[in-house]
Amino acid sequence: MCGTKLKPMNLLKRKISELQERRAKAIQGGGETAIAKQIAMGKLPARERISQLLDPGSFFEYDLFIEHEAREFGMEGKDLAGDGVVIGTGTIHGRPVAIYAQDFTVAGGSLGSMHARKITKIMDYALRMRIPIIGINDSGGARIQEGVNSLAGYGEIFFRNTLSSGVIPQLSVILGPCAGGAVYSPALTDFVFVVDKISKMFITGPEVIKSVLGEEIDMESLGGARVHSEITGNAHFFALSEKECFEQIKTLLAYIPSHNECNCNIEKVVEPDIKKYKIEKIVPVDPTKPYDVRDVIKALTDGSKFFEVQELWAANIVIGFGRIAGRTVGFVCNQPMVLAGVLDCDSSDKAARFIRYCDAFNIPIVTLEDLPGYLPGVDQEHAGVIRHGAKLLYAYSEATVPKVTIILRKAYGGGYIAMNSRHLRADFVFAWPLAEIAVMGPEGAANIIFRKEISEAADPEAMRKLKVEEYKKKFANPYVAAAKGYIDAVIDPSETRKFLIHSFDVSSHKVVKRPSKKHGIPPF
Ligand code: HXC
Repeated sequence: MCGTKLKPMNLLKRKISELQERRAKAIQGGGETAIAKQIAMGKLPARERISQLLDPGSFFEYDLFIEHEAREFGMEGKDLAGDGVVIGTGTIHGRPVAIYAQDFTVAGGSLGSMHARKITKIMDYALRMRIPIIGINDSGGARIQEGVNSLAGYGEIFFRNTLSSGVIPQLSVILGPCAGGAVYSPALTDFVFVVDKISKMFITGPEVIKSVLGEEIDMESLGGARVHSEITGNAHFFALSEKECFEQIKTLLAYIPSHNECNCNIEKVVEPDIKKYKIEKIVPVDPTKPYDVRDVIKALTDGSKFFEVQELWAANIVIGFGRIAGRTVGFVCNQPMVLAGVLDCDSSDKAARFIRYCDAFNIPIVTLEDLPGYLPGVDQEHAGVIRHGAKLLYAYSEATVPKVTIILRKAYGGGYIAMNSRHLRADFVFAWPLAEIAVMGPEGAANIIFRKEISEAADPEAMRKLKVEEYKKKFANPYVAAAKGYIDAVIDPSETRKFLIHSFDVSSHKVVKRPSKKHGIPPF
């Protein structure tokens, strides 16, 4: 054969077959044993994850043949397929997305300089093309052998996360370890998805904690999926399996727009299931009785569908997406079923961040209000409820998307102001006839302002009841606020969806001018 000239067709065939061989070798990742270990841990290999998440056959991979440049600590000549990360573009629901997935079977998915360069390349594409970016994290963190080059790689990623924030949706999926500084990329993104028993996120792991503090804790209890979904609030979506997690990602992407200058898709209008969710029967007349505000949301949304965000954390406030007459809207709602729906540090943080997300991506906001005010207590004061609570005021005041508030029942004190009141520039505020808009509940108010009359009465208890009734009649209703124009209409609960549809119709070309500035200084 040597020296024989091949015909052009045969030469092409040989080149194609060489390409196929190279591809086949590269997609083996860390090899059979490492892949088997990955599967034994209940985790899918990186490319399998991508193919399950994207539309079938839509994935195009780039930089498959990238090679690392490390020479120290035995790295010279070491073959690390794709340098431990898979990048590319594809579609979900036919809409383009950019994606990267760290491959734990290759050097533990550790991040070296070429690995980082691949991630930043796909992040740059995503920002330039203005499409969502999805990052699947499964990595031992900075590649120890590459030293400062690995750290530099993280810095480049964090910078791009910040640059892309509010321009394109950034989704982080934690499907393995995500340790050390590596956790900060997910924390800078919009939504973090975790899977039970698979996701592990922490700054310092169990070994370091043991050696520095002498405390013993396992990885799951330190930074497992439940910890981040229920305690820290770092995660937004919790799933029991990778499959369920991918479904959640697809659902979320169906609600949100691809970038900040486009609107969400308008879907076919489907009426709510009013047989199942009878709006006039959900909220008890007695203001002390709890109910699940998600039932009110479902009585209002198209097809009674609601996609909740951070369901397991700070459950005294409910946030998430639904559709009203085909349009995506964000819901921010007090949850009387948990802590009577009070505002506190965590619920203020949760709502404020979601409001800023909706505002950045042109998603109108519906606020359903029923709360007794802020949670009192030394713990809250010392945890900085002043600063945290201020985030909510800032977020609502700053948001310029259409904002509608429905006061379902109680709107007391600072809570009334904070939950998108007229004074923070709600476009429309409607109240149900049950609404009580006051500085505080009638019992507390009567005890304070009629203290003297009550204590000096022949029958203090009877006097107290009388004064509570007097206060209720005068202030515990929506008509005082209606008389001042602080609310736009008192409505029958059954009219709520109709009012919402109309409010969003009339505000679809809303324009708001604000003082020119570089940026504000929110109470972070
Ligand atoms: C290089 C790494 C690595 C790393 C894992 N590997 N982490 N190689 N750098 N950071 C390699 C292992 O040597 C091993 O290679 C393979 O990946 C699989 O790892 P195992 O330990 O066998 O897997 P497992 O038992 O599942 O444990 C996973 C793990 C553990 C918990 C993640 O590997 C681990 O603790 N790694 C180090 C974590 C860490 O401290 N990272 C640095 C964080 S500091 P072989 O060849 O044997 O298959 C950081 C700073 C960033 O990230 C700062 C940004 C601002």
